[in-house]
Order: sequence, then C-alpha cells, then structure tokens
Amino acid sequence: MELNKKIHAKVKHNGYITFDDYMDMCLYYDDLGYYNNKNISLNPKNSDFITGPEISPIYTDSIINFYNNCKKNKEIDYVLEFGAGSGELAYNFLKNVTSNNMPKKYFILEKSKYLKRQQKDKINNLPKEISKKVEWINDISNIKNAFLIANEVLDAIPAKRFIKKENQFYEKIIKSKDGKLYFSKIKCKPLLEEKIKNIENRINFNFTNNYCFEINFLYEEFFSNIFKNVENFIFILIDYGYGEKEFYHPDRSTGTIQYYKNNKKILDNLNNQGTFDISVSVDFSHIYRIINFHNLQLLSYTTQEQFLLETNILENSSKLSDNFERSNVLKSLLFPSDMGENFKIMILCDHMKKSFKMNFKDYRHRL
Ligand SMILES: C[S@@+](CC[C@H](N)C(=O)[O-])C[C@H]1O[C@@H](n2cnc3c(N)ncnc32)[C@H](O)[C@@H]1O
Repeated sequence: MELNKKIHAKVKHNGYITFDDYMDMCLYYDDLGYYNNKNISLNPKNSDFITGPEISPIYTDSIINFYNNCKKNKEIDYVLEFGAGSGELAYNFLKNVTSNNMPKKYFILEKSKYLKRQQKDKINNLPKEISKKVEWINDISNIKNAFLIANEVLDAIPAKRFIKKENQFYEKIIKSKDGKLYFSKIKCKPLLEEKIKNIENRINFNFTNNYCFEINFLYEEFFSNIFKNVENFIFILIDYGYGEKEFYHPDRSTGTIQYYKNNKKILDNLNNQGTFDISVSVDFSHIYRIINFHNLQLLSYTTQEQFLLETNILENSSKLSDNFERSNVLKSLLFPSDMGENFKIMILCDHMKKSFKMNFKDYRHRL
C-alpha cells in the first residue's frame, strides 16, 4: 500500500510515469520495492520464482567447470558477480571451487540493499578464510583479469513498453484517475520512432496495429560501465530471451513482460506493488550489437541445455542421491519446455591470448 502511494505521488507530480520508471519503483524502491522488501524470499521453498542457482548446487558446479576451463586459457584472478540474489551462486561457487582455483577476491555488485544483507548472512556461513574473499562493491573501476557472471540480472533491468495503434508508435505510461492507476500512452518522439523503425527494418516485418513490445534502453549503460572499467575479462550472461527475430515475432503480440507471484504468472498489475516480480525477456541481438560497438568478442551464444550438458551436469547430478529430486532438477534445468531452451548463455570477452574454442552448440546465427 505504501509503495502504491509513492507511485501515485510521482504520477501526480509528473502527470504520468513511463513503464520503465514504474518497473524500477516496483522492484527497487527503498525498503518497499520487490527486491528491497524484507517480506520477499528468494528461497525456493517460498519464493515467487526460481532461478538456476536456487534449483540445485549442481547448476553452480557447471559454472565452476566453465570457470576452471577459462582459467586454463586466460589469466583470471577475480570473480565479479552482478545481481547475486540470495547469494546462492556465490556461496556454492566458493564452497566447491578447488583451492588451487580459488579467486583472489569474489566481488559482488548488487543493486538491492536488502539482498546485499541476505548475501552477507549466507556468505558468513562459509569458513572465515573463504568468506573474507567476498567484497561488495559499487565501483568496478580498476578490476582486471576477471570472470564476470550475470545470472538472470538483465531481465530485472527496467524496460520501456510500446504499442502500435493506427500505424503510429506510442510509449506505454501509467496515469491516475479517481485514486486508481491505469495504463495510457503517449506518442513516441521522432528519435524513439526511428529506433523502432530500425527494428522493423532489421527483422523485415512491420508490427501490426495493437502489437505490444519492449525495448530495454538501459542495457547500453549497464554494459558500457563494465566494458569501460574492467580489463581482461570473460563474461557469462545467463537469461531467458531470444534473438531479435524471435523476440519481435508477429505471434508475440503482447510482448514478453511477466509478472510473478507465488510461482504463478499474474496479469498486468497496478496494485500491491512491491509484492510481485516483474521481468522482461532479453533481446540478445541487442546485446550483440552493444558487444560489436565496443569491439568485443562474442565467444558463444547457446542454450542452457547445451551449456549444462557440456559442463558435466549429468556426471555432477550423481551427487543428488534421491532419484526423484535428481530427475526433477535435471528436468527443470534441461528440458526445452522448461529452462533448457528458453534460457540462453552468452559468453563474451575483451581479448584472448590464444584461441579458446567453445564446444557449446553454436546459435550465433540466430542473433
Ligand atoms: C532475478 S534476480 C536474480 C538473482 C540471482 N542472480 C539468481 O540467479 O538467483 C535479479 C538480481 O539482479 C539484481 N539487479 C538488478 N539490476 C541490477 C544492476 N543494474 N546491478 C546489479 N544488480 C542488479 C537484483 O537486485 C537481483 O539481485
């Protein structure tokens, strides 16, 4: 209720708020936004959604397997994780990486104050000589030789929403009337319209009237900050999403936005903000263009299923002694109808000393 009032106040002050501002308030508003709300848990037993690292530690074993392989091909001293959620991936990584491959430091850059506290509590359960390697940072300048991870972070970065009506493009906004919030629209400025028309040209399809879609304009800032500051890195991005042609497929006429509460999808929601998650799938072609703009190397674009199989998930699953649990974990992580195909892995780097061949099935042609 408290957050709803803050949103009303902002709408009253500005006349409206754009969807990306609304999403930012819903997710990150101090003490009240979903990721800053102390009543929200990312623990799979009572969470609203579940991520790979939370499904089972064998997911993180695959990340470690890949990290070990990277270390053979590149000088890597540090790990830097973006948006570490409950800290589960960091915890299992440091618990299970071998001592000879232990990073000098495990940095975490986390946007949510509340999740930072949760991460600290979890990391403190590790032996002192390991937990002291973890450092929470806001400034990533001067980091060198680093293995970077962002697991389901991009989908939580606020996006703008648009709709085409009578052959014109409009941005979706939120207004209020008689104490109630409602969706409305404003005509796109020429620069924005040009960006949308560029998408139509690239995918060779003109959006039909009533077609709704998202564009995330904050990716440029997120990645530029990393690419400008971190030197000699390999970056693994994991998220659900598609290449541009699939992202803006004619059949996906209501966009990719999802609202989750109690492990169920809910409809567009303009009430009870701060109690449900909002996410937008990732347009990986957009990220590919940013990578190219910065002259970086895209080493791989593959599915989660292909990545996990190549990094020994089946062998590692023998650690799960309960057969029922084992098959459920493998189904969730690998099945195409579950996370196996919807989730993609993008691996990029600034430079490689020697050729480092990725054995994952290559889907770069889909970008
Ligand atoms: C969907 S959760 C994923 C958490 C965790 N990585 C996992 O897979 O379980 C998104 C996480 O990204 C964080 N986040 C969102 N935007 C961020 C940004 N710009 N910088 C750092 N963290 C961010 C959120 O606070 C949250 O911890």
